[in-house]
Amino acid sequence: MKINGNYKNLAESYLFREVAQRKNAFIKAHPETDVINMGIGDVTLPLCPAVIEEMTKAVAEMGVKETFKGYPDYYGEPYLLDAIQNYYKKSMGVDLSKEEINVTCGAKEDVSNILDIFSSDTVAVVPDPVYPVYLDSNIMSGRKVRFISANPENGFLPMPKDAPEGDIYYLCSPNNPTGACYNYEQLKEWVDFAKNTSSVILFDAAYEIFVEPGLPRSIFEIEGAKECAIEFCSMSKTAGFTGTRCGYTIIPEALKDEDGNAFLPLWKRRQSTKFNGTAHIVQRGAAAVFTEEGYAQIKENIAYYKRNTAVMMKTFDELGIRYYGGKNSPYVWLECPNNMGSWEFFDYLLNNANIVGIPGEGFGKNGEGYFRLSGFGDAERTVEAMNRIKKLFK
Ligand code: MLT
Repeated sequence: MKINGNYKNLAESYLFREVAQRKNAFIKAHPETDVINMGIGDVTLPLCPAVIEEMTKAVAEMGVKETFKGYPDYYGEPYLLDAIQNYYKKSMGVDLSKEEINVTCGAKEDVSNILDIFSSDTVAVVPDPVYPVYLDSNIMSGRKVRFISANPENGFLPMPKDAPEGDIYYLCSPNNPTGACYNYEQLKEWVDFAKNTSSVILFDAAYEIFVEPGLPRSIFEIEGAKECAIEFCSMSKTAGFTGTRCGYTIIPEALKDEDGNAFLPLWKRRQSTKFNGTAHIVQRGAAAVFTEEGYAQIKENIAYYKRNTAVMMKTFDELGIRYYGGKNSPYVWLECPNNMGSWEFFDYLLNNANIVGIPGEGFGKNGEGYFRLSGFGDAERTVEAMNRIKKLFK
């Protein structure tokens, strides 16, 4: 009997856990300090009133025999599928069938689980720097991984001309960690490339709600994408569901492998075997996000987080520190001042300003010398953090 030896090829610890451990150790050693956490992208505003109201109703219904429900639908309750379908149509002009929408417990889970429906010899191409889940889940399954360089020269938006050969290409826009966002022409190039090379784009749209008008929020806004892409989205950042857990994955009916086999039935088969659906109460809350009232409320929350990134960008402008992101993203990706390495800057900032961020190197070797700060914090604490940074670097 043997363990899955692929795990030996992983970095020792998951990046966000490593950062949390270092933060906790620092707080334990310096209990008097007031640490500001701008590390993991976790929301701080509560669920909006429309969501709470609907979830409260759903809880009450679960306590009454006539309205109680057992297992949820494997792929999402019809009212939530309806709501997501309308959202895509209204906000992005994208037509989806309800079959193509698959409700789950979040994008992080789905970007890993999706590998089940690809051949085990599939070669994955991931950007460097990268959200670690794409890389780790491929390593765990023993797949070959190749990197495509995201760097200041390409504005951290790698294009097909730089792409190594592969079968699945991970794109995240707005990007985690860099905050960079593809435009229509760039995504069109990716779609044409995927179609010409019979490869599949795994498009992570978890941060789409942060995109300003004029840029694409869904890969399916691009003509031809339904033949070559799968999209992952999440209520976590859109509506503060990081602790509530709900996401959805769009697998077009037209997406087929090189022998003409469709991917969607495989996902349905996988989910019905390995997943028993998203909790009723959670799905009711998620559907409330897409009502007129709920959407207005979550947009206010997004505006709040965007004010945080505006404060951060203004600070770095004043200090002459180069950065990316912040505009179409809750993340600001900055060059570490004074040529510091990214873990060196992590320690420096923690010790001298009691601020926690994420060292760029944790996202890949191209992240060395960069640092990610999150705009998901409390507004006053964000201002305080920026004042501390100003004191250090003015
Ligand atoms: C992040 O900080 O990158 C995210 O919150 C992590 C995640 O979504 O899993």
